[in-house]
Order: sequence, then C-alpha cells, then structure tokens
Amino acid sequence: MERVLVIGAFGQLGSELTDELRKLYGEDNVIASDITAARAQAARGPFEQLDILDRARLGEIVEKHKITQIYNLAAILSSIGESKPGVAWNVNMNGLVNVLELAREKGLNKIYWPSSIAVFGPDTPKVMTPQETVMNPSTMYGVNKLAGEKLCQYYFQKFGVDVRSVRYPGLVGYKAMPGGGTTDYAVDIYFKAKQGEEFTCFLDKGTVLPMMYMDDAIRGTIQLMESPAEKVKIRTSYNLAGMSFAPEEIGSSIQKIIPDFKMIYAPDHRQEIAESWPDSIDDQFAQAHWGWKPKFDLDAMSKDILENI
Ligand code: NAD
Ligand code: SER
Repeated sequence: MERVLVIGAFGQLGSELTDELRKLYGEDNVIASDITAARAQAARGPFEQLDILDRARLGEIVEKHKITQIYNLAAILSSIGESKPGVAWNVNMNGLVNVLELAREKGLNKIYWPSSIAVFGPDTPKVMTPQETVMNPSTMYGVNKLAGEKLCQYYFQKFGVDVRSVRYPGLVGYKAMPGGGTTDYAVDIYFKAKQGEEFTCFLDKGTVLPMMYMDDAIRGTIQLMESPAEKVKIRTSYNLAGMSFAPEEIGSSIQKIIPDFKMIYAPDHRQEIAESWPDSIDDQFAQAHWGWKPKFDLDAMSKDILENI
C-alpha cells in the first residue's frame, strides 16, 4: 500500500497531479500539503499545512501518515526567482535537501522532483536540445534546477534513494493558475480569448519555447513513477518534449476557434529569460527508456482548453 505526500499541492501542477494520484492510490492515501492553507477548504482529501523548509514538521507528517512516496513540487519559479534569488535558493535547494535526507533516513520507496528546461542556458544548442549538452543557466531558478538534478543523482548513487525527475517544458493547463514563471502567458492567453478580450503578451513575437499540455505532463509523470526502477536509467532528469510554439502561433491556433481574438506584444523582463531557453527538446531517452509519447499538439490543446474553460 503506497502512501503519498504531495508538497506544493496547491500549485499549477500539484492541483491536477494530486487529483490524479488520488485516482490511482485512493483519496485517503494521498496527503496534500502546501505552505498555504488557503485552498484547503475547497480541496477534497487529507491536507497538512507544511513549509518544506521545516524539516521537523516534514518528518512528523511522514511518520503520522506512514508516507512511502513524496512528490516535491514546492518551488519558486523563474520570474519570481529573479526578483527573490535568496528565497528561490532556499526553497528550491534546501527544500529538496530536506526531502532527500528524509528519504535516506526513513528508506522511503520513491521520490519525485521536477526539473525544467531552465537548466539550459544561452549557449546551449537551441533546436532539439540534447539530453547531455552545454548547461550554463542564466537564471537563479535554472541554477537551482541544475544543482537539484545533480543532488538527485548523488542521493541515488550514494544512498540508493529512488528519486526520479523530468525536465518539464512550460506547462499549459486551465484548472489551476501558474505561479510566476516565464511560460505563464500561454495559460493567461486562453482566459483572455474566452472572455473576448485582447491579450497583451509579455513575450515578443518569434519567441519559440518548448511547451506541454498538462494532461500530457501528468500522464508522463505517472508513467515515469510507475516504471520499474531498472528502466529509469537517467537519474539527473529526463528531457521531455510536448510541442513548441511562439506567441503568434498560439494566437493563430486560438483564432481557428475564436476568429476575432486579438493580441499585442509588450515584452518585459521575462523576454531575456525566454531567450536563454531552448526552442525544442530531444527526448529520445524518455521515449526509449520508459515509453514516453505526448498526445497533444497545439491545436488539440487549444480545442480542449477553450471547450473546458
Ligand atoms: P507553482 O508555483 O504553481 O506551485 C508551487 C507550490 O509550492 C505553490 O502552491 C506554493 O504555495 C508552494 N510552495 C512554495 N513555497 C513553499 C514552501 N516553502 N513549502 C511548501 N510549499 C511551498 O509551481 P508549479 O508550476 O506547480 O510547479 C511545480 C514544480 O514543477 C516545480 O518544481 C516547478 O519548478 C516545476 N516545473 C513547472 C513548470 C511549469 O510550467 N509550471 C515547468 C517546469 C518545471
Ligand atoms: N514554466 C517554468 C517557468 O517559466 C519553467 O520551469 O518558470
């Protein structure tokens, strides 16, 4: 019987992943936790308020609920990380260390911790970015994710902690709002389009980024976590690809459904971050090792989102 703790469960990813994990393991076997209790009333199922930096409380929750797996989703994302680099380092790195140390001490079965395309930097090859390549991230968030990947590999090699990870592209969904990243525009745009409003994009025309529909991200995450350990051969983090598009392409995709939709461009500080990241990702190892295959392209994603919001 697996008992799962999701940390950062009320974020963009956690909100949807927690629901899916509850379908898999049973509602009572998946404990949602977050630093904020604001959404706990609305959310179903067991909840514990937790600051991931509070190692003692983390240990108490793991004991109390007899936790066997942790999904560590608590993070400070790329845009906020640039304005609060110290906070980003603390949450992104010390939070991860707390989880890995606990996993080592208690012999937990599995840990999930997501990395990001932010591990790549301005001097990384941009098209079909390989798994192993030049990695000199220019954001605090990217530095944290790259160091986090190495930490995960270290805890696996040194202590046998079964920690698994993927480098998500920008995640696009409509059930929970994003939390301060550079790819957030690709969520906001659908809400503005649906409300019949003009959208002002904080990235410029032509800024191609790797992206993924949330349904694919959740499916890929669970697929990786359910794979036999011997198939998980990369213990830093797997490249994972869905689709790639520039702002004007998502605009055109929306116009196929809402022809009057209009957007304008007002690039801000996030433009520089976006320009440091790849255009597209080579995920051949995720495909070969554990059978990854995305289902959604841009038009399928637009149709699904605009039908559902
Ligand atoms: P988010 O910002 O929407 O959610 C993060 C959650 O963590 C929030 O609910 C927040 O309250 C919580 N949190 C923050 N500080 C905490 C602390 N000290 N203790 C406990 N909880 C805390 O982020 P997300 O988009 O859901 O991202 C989840 C994970 O996926 C992160 O590791 C992120 O880096 C990674 N990721 C996300 C994307 C994306 O596009 N959303 C892309 C690549 C990687
Ligand atoms: N989508 C995330 C961000 O923009 C990338 O990890 O920060």
